[in-house]
Order: sequence, then structure tokens, then C-alpha cells
Amino acid sequence: MKDYSNYFKKMKIAGKLAAKTLDIITPYIKPGVSTETLDKICYEHIRDNGGYSAPLYYRGFPKSVCTSTNHIVCHGIPSNKVLKESDILNIDVTAIVDGHHGDTSRMFFVGDVSVKSKNLVKATYESMMMAIKLVKPGLKLGDIGATIQKYTEEKGFSVVRDFCGHGTGTTFHKDPNILHYGKENTGPSIEEGMTFTIEPMINEGKFDVKMLKDGWTAVTKDKSLSAQFEHTIGVTHNGYEIFTESDIKFDQPPYLL
Ligand code: MF3
Ligand code: CO
Ligand code: CO
Repeated sequence: MKDYSNYFKKMKIAGKLAAKTLDIITPYIKPGVSTETLDKICYEHIRDNGGYSAPLYYRGFPKSVCTSTNHIVCHGIPSNKVLKESDILNIDVTAIVDGHHGDTSRMFFVGDVSVKSKNLVKATYESMMMAIKLVKPGLKLGDIGATIQKYTEEKGFSVVRDFCGHGTGTTFHKDPNILHYGKENTGPSIEEGMTFTIEPMINEGKFDVKMLKDGWTAVTKDKSLSAQFEHTIGVTHNGYEIFTESDIKFDQPPYLL
């Protein structure tokens, strides 16, 4: 087995910077703030801490982070549009440090949100964590998807099919694709030293997605709410390491809910 401890160390530095960026943006999330203001603060925090925002100019993406509100499934583009009371918001940050990628996203609440928003966000978080906790060498990729699908569908939600998790490391997106739906005990086996994201997008209604004309923003076709969380993890000899954990636990309940 190739020694991957140095590689994991670098992945963790990038992951921690991405997580910290989401920590420091948290107090700014209030009614009246524009998503491009949040984008700028994230960009500067990453830059001032020795990193670069991977999304900026990635395949022509115009901003540093993705901001996806309410029925936006993913890849929302920061703009002068302001947040309003009761919005739910995902911010997805990817920091590159020393050539390594840390990719993570969380949900935020703008003021008070509805009980149905909270339930969707909670189920999405729990489905991601449930899948992460299974990860160890020998687990099949299908088990990750099956776990997320079963848990969220039992609650009446649906799993987005059009976007998936991915290998990440010295390149932003690489093999394998990590599907968030699927069948137990199918697909390739997970191996020690692998690094990838788990990032389920869960819809309150149907799983169908529509692309907006900007070429990036994906929304639910039925306009129902959508939630997402993302961590970057590495596979160890007997389990996993989460590279994008928040040091102050802002990535988990009860802070979140
Ligand atoms: N961070 C997203 C992911 O989880 C990718 C964003 S690419 C962008 O894979 F170009 F839309 F920013
Ligand atoms: Co990702
Ligand atoms: Co991401």
C-alpha cells in the first residue's frame, strides 16, 4: 500500500480552509445581504489564507462560490439579489491549497424558516452522515447511494439524479462518480487512500431538475425546495477521515437547527 499520509495531510489543510470559510460566512447570513457580498467575503478569506477558490473561472463559472437558495438545487451564481427572511441557502466552497482541493457545502437558514424546510435540511444532513459512517475499504459505491436514497425516500423526499459526488484531490472533479441513489452491494469497491465527496441533493418534491438559461443554475422542475450538504473524505485502513469538518461544529446540529 502506497503511503498516503502526506497526501491526506494536504487534503486536510485544503478541507479545513473550505470549512473555516463556511464558519466565518455564517454571521453574515441575514435578510438583506446579497449573495455576491457573501461570495466576495469567501473569496477574500480563501485568498488571505493561502488558497484559491476552485470554482472561479472553472469551465467559465463567474464567481468564487455557489449560492443556491430555496428551489435552486445547485450551482446558483452569486448576484446582487438579496436574501429574505425564511430562505434556505446552500453555500458550496471549494478551496485549493498547494494544489489540493477541499470541497464542502452546508445549508443556512435566513432568519426563521418553516418546519418543512427544517425537516428537509435535517434529513439531507443525516443522509450524508449516515453514508459517510459506512465508508471503509471494501464498501461498495452502491451502498452509499442506497443508504441515502432509502433514508430520504422514507421521509417522502427524493434524490436528485442529475448531479453526483466525485473523486477529488489534485484535480477538482475526477473518478469515481459517487451517486446518491442506487442498490446495495453493487458497483466498484472503495479502497484505502481514495478521496472523494459525498454531496446529496434532496428535493421536497420530485427529483427532476431544470437548467436555467445562464447555463449553471439547476432548479427543481416542480419548484419544490431542495437541500444539500457536502463533505470531502478520505478512506483510511479501517474507516474514513472527514477533511472538511468544522472546528467549531458549525457543520452539524444542534448549531444548524
Ligand atoms: N463545488 C461543486 C461541487 O461540489 C462544483 C462547483 S463547480 C462550479 O462539485 F463551477 F459550479 F462552481
Ligand atoms: Co463536490
Ligand atoms: Co462542492
